[in-house]
Amino acid sequence: MQPRTFSLRYRPQIFEELFDQEHIKRTLINAIERSKLAHAYLFTGPRGVGKTTTARILAKSLNCEKGQGAHPCNQCSACIEITASKSMDVLEIDGASNRGIDQIRDLRENIRYLPTGGRYRIYIIDEVHMLTTEAFNALLKTLEEPPRHVIFVFATTEPHKVPATILSRCQRFDFKRIPAHVIAERLSMIIAKENLDLDKDAIALISEIADGGLRDAESVLEQITTFKEGRITALDVTELLGIVPQERFVGFLKVLRGGSEKEILLFLEEIFKQGYDVAEYYFGLIRFIRSLLLYRLGINKDDFGVLGSEALSEAENHHPKNLAKILERFLRAEEVFKKSLEKTILIETISLSLLYTDNEQNQAHQKINPPQTPRSNPSPVKEEPETDTPSGSKETSKQEHETEKGEQLATKKEEPGKPSSLSSLWKSFLVELSQEQSFLTLALNSSALLQENENTLHIGITGSKFNLDIIEHDKNDLERRFSEIANRRVRLVFEILEKEEEKTDAKKMENTSVDDILDIFKGEIIR
Ligand SMILES: Nc1ncnc2c1ncn2[C@@H]1O[C@H](COP(=O)(O)OP(=O)(O)OP(=O)(O)O)[C@@H](O)[C@H]1O
Ligand SMILES: [Mg+2]
Ligand SMILES: [Zn+2]
Repeated sequence: MQPRTFSLRYRPQIFEELFDQEHIKRTLINAIERSKLAHAYLFTGPRGVGKTTTARILAKSLNCEKGQGAHPCNQCSACIEITASKSMDVLEIDGASNRGIDQIRDLRENIRYLPTGGRYRIYIIDEVHMLTTEAFNALLKTLEEPPRHVIFVFATTEPHKVPATILSRCQRFDFKRIPAHVIAERLSMIIAKENLDLDKDAIALISEIADGGLRDAESVLEQITTFKEGRITALDVTELLGIVPQERFVGFLKVLRGGSEKEILLFLEEIFKQGYDVAEYYFGLIRFIRSLLLYRLGINKDDFGVLGSEALSEAENHHPKNLAKILERFLRAEEVFKKSLEKTILIETISLSLLYTDNEQNQAHQKINPPQTPRSNPSPVKEEPETDTPSGSKETSKQEHETEKGEQLATKKEEPGKPSSLSSLWKSFLVELSQEQSFLTLALNSSALLQENENTLHIGITGSKFNLDIIEHDKNDLERRFSEIANRRVRLVFEILEKEEEKTDAKKMENTSVDDILDIFKGEIIR
């Protein structure tokens, strides 16, 4: 009977059937043919890229009764037993469930026996990083003086968890993620053999989202063909997997290019209304923009099957620098995004910040009327002269006004002997930061100085908790830069400021996201 799942049915049985991993194939074939085998191999790499498969082909090559070097016959009883995992001489051990010292002791006992039929006894230990320290120590003794007839193949997705003493006794092979176009090639082979009908775009999409894992790609293919009969399109794939169709990303770039704040917010609102998972959208957008960027730079041309024609023509409207900037903004917020409870607002905020840097100031002034100069303005407007240092006050708006006044100060290093107050240095630091127009700047725009001690500044953050998350993420860097300006080590303490008044009316509630953004930009909607 044929195995049910594609990945078992089509598991490569000889080196030639293995896709990609060329250097590994070549080195192993050479070693087998020249009888220059190591006693222990370590196969590392992500899931489903051929580690176990290769270990078995290696075992078959060594024990095939026909003894044809690196070309096992797959017909003799040794080959057949290995394929069916029934060989007495090839033992596959799951390191995750046999992680203790006792199991390794058993293994050491076992090793002493000569092979029953074949020339070698081959021990394949999967997930080897799961072994306990004692088990590793016991294993080490065996690795130091292995019997001639024994070969170990350790496989792991997490090589950094394998002790150096073990690593140094293994020949290591790093299995790579498999490029999307190679995955597509293999899927096409399976599709032909199974008589399936898939659009080229559908194949490209499955190959892309598998993210280098062949087994994953095969299981998606299998899932989709049980889910739907007849011709399968890219849209079927997106529906089945709940992923966002590409046109939703193309649309994003379009509004970003030509739209206003309102259009961008409405566009995003529409996306999330449609029920797409926010994280799916965020990470999908990152992958999409990366693909576009690589395309624009002419890198990895083979992997662009996944970009539809609409995406390719939109790409022409974006300078690679622009794409790189968008990518950078979204990537920078990744950690914050993962933790944030306000993921949609976060996406909205990043998008608006991109709009501002893109369209410079013009558009920002049309729709949102900042009561004061936005901090993202690259040419700060001068106001009244500096007054006294705010300290201890929690009155947000007043503090922000103070911050505003600081804009006239150029950031300069503090001269020894003439110490300026930390708060005034902080204000000018903010101005300097605002030139960078980063996501961090946006978050800091809603900050207010609370208190100043000799070497500590307490800064309140208004708006949502995610503003604080963003700032905390870059805090070390901020402290380092600010300490440089202040000429001494300064600690920055950030805390959330309570909103002065909770706005409870229903209309407000509906538009929380817009409100929050306006909060950050210190703006209001003009109707
Ligand atoms: N390089 C490859 N060429 C062809 N098929 C592959 C390759 N890698 C993986 N596959 C497919 O994926 C299935 C699983 O591969 P395999 O068990 O070798 O992965 P693995 O790297 O050991 O993964 P894991 O870390 O999850 O154990 C294979 O049966 C095969 O169908
Ligand atoms: Mg495996
Ligand atoms: Zn054989």
